[in-house]
Amino acid sequence: MSESETKYAELHLDGKVIRLPILEGTEQEKGIDISALRKETGYITVDPGFFNTGACYSKVTFIDGEKGILRYRGIPVEELAEKATFVQTAYLLLHDRLPNEKQLKAFSSLLNLNSMLHEDMRHFFDGFPRGAHPMHILSTMINALCTFYPNVDMLSLKEDINLSATRLISTVRTVAAFAYKKSIGEPIVYPRYDLPYCANFLNMMFDSPVKPYEVNKDVVRALDLLLILHADHEQNCSTTTVRTVGSAQVDLYASISAGVSALSGPLHGGANQAVIDMLRKIMRSEGNIQKFVERAKDKNNPFRLMGFGHRIYKTFDPRATIIKKTCHDLLEKLKINDPLLDLAMELEDIATHDDYFIERNLYPNVDFYSGIIYRAIGIPENMFTVMFALGRLPGWIAHWQEMISQNTKISRPRQIYTGKTLRHYEKI
Ligand code: CMC
Repeated sequence: MSESETKYAELHLDGKVIRLPILEGTEQEKGIDISALRKETGYITVDPGFFNTGACYSKVTFIDGEKGILRYRGIPVEELAEKATFVQTAYLLLHDRLPNEKQLKAFSSLLNLNSMLHEDMRHFFDGFPRGAHPMHILSTMINALCTFYPNVDMLSLKEDINLSATRLISTVRTVAAFAYKKSIGEPIVYPRYDLPYCANFLNMMFDSPVKPYEVNKDVVRALDLLLILHADHEQNCSTTTVRTVGSAQVDLYASISAGVSALSGPLHGGANQAVIDMLRKIMRSEGNIQKFVERAKDKNNPFRLMGFGHRIYKTFDPRATIIKKTCHDLLEKLKINDPLLDLAMELEDIATHDDYFIERNLYPNVDFYSGIIYRAIGIPENMFTVMFALGRLPGWIAHWQEMISQNTKISRPRQIYTGKTLRHYEKI
């Protein structure tokens, strides 16, 4: 936009009028550029939790939370869920275009070539205590990758992001499966060159010397779909973490490791595990859903309905709608009758008809039904958030890459100091 076309908002402050440029994105999202505010006025803006703060310009993902729209690089997530694979979606996020046949072959082959974990890293798993949460193991192992690939600095990544991104997407899958095998005391299963991404992961998870794993195409498709739906979600807490950490020119692995830690929280990716825990508790209370709904509404009770509510969506989360349908389809195909699915649907029905949830626009989010699919696939509950991380990797990398290419300034918010004013040291 040329200088003459720029529109301005006016701020009247201390007898002065400050003109602040109005910005508009390609989907008509509007913002006010306050970058010169402090310099011109001495004031800062305060927005804890970043309800109103845009921290960057991004071309990766578009969300309209009022209409329930989610698009990666312009393509609706519904189309990708129906027609694409996770590997194609990852390529799309990283390269801003869907791969053609040749590009997909090359990308898949790179994923395959980089699927091995450095042998010395296998011993790391022995050092974790029994019962260590796989998300903690995952973030530690990703950070440790920096020590094995020390040449991955900002400069080489700019030139060769393809290799580093692919290595990360492929290796993390291996780390996740190894962490699981370690936790159940079974020998690890190495990646296989002849299996595509999701089937390869499932094989590493479930193959054993005494019971070979048989790849089930419905299970593979369901996993593919879940990973696609988790692949990006613009400036969520973990992605913002990746961008913030990376803004200090921290390398890709360490930045992603920080993102994994952010994701593990129960208000973020950790919610998928917490949902199943909550449903089980409801079951144990003889299915008294209303009691739990009342607890969630009680301001004196910290309990929340897990898998409900979202900072951005003020209507149904489009991912939840697809996952709910897939959940039904998969359970039917696998002939599984999971009482937790019936309970979840009943809970959704009660909550979405309750004034408290209606007034606050609280609907099921991506985490509400995903755990039921993971259970059907045989993924243990403490691995649910690891699955979220596997899916989110291409998004994190795309944002890190974008952040680097924009020559981003270091993230460094300000504060309003509310502590003691000047006082002096007193001798004891
Ligand atoms: N159960 C009960 N009340 C809720 C819930 C819930 N799940 N979520 C929000 N509220 C209430 C909240 O108490 C507040 O009420 P009031 O206005 O009376 O104070 C109002 O709704 C707005 O909530 P908020 O905490 O200001 O909203 P937020 O945007 O800061 O939080 C959230 C978003 C996802 C953290 C929150 O909805 C929540 O804690 N949900 C449960 C955890 C969960 O499912 N997380 C997964 C999110 S989706 C996956 C991802 O991308 O991370």
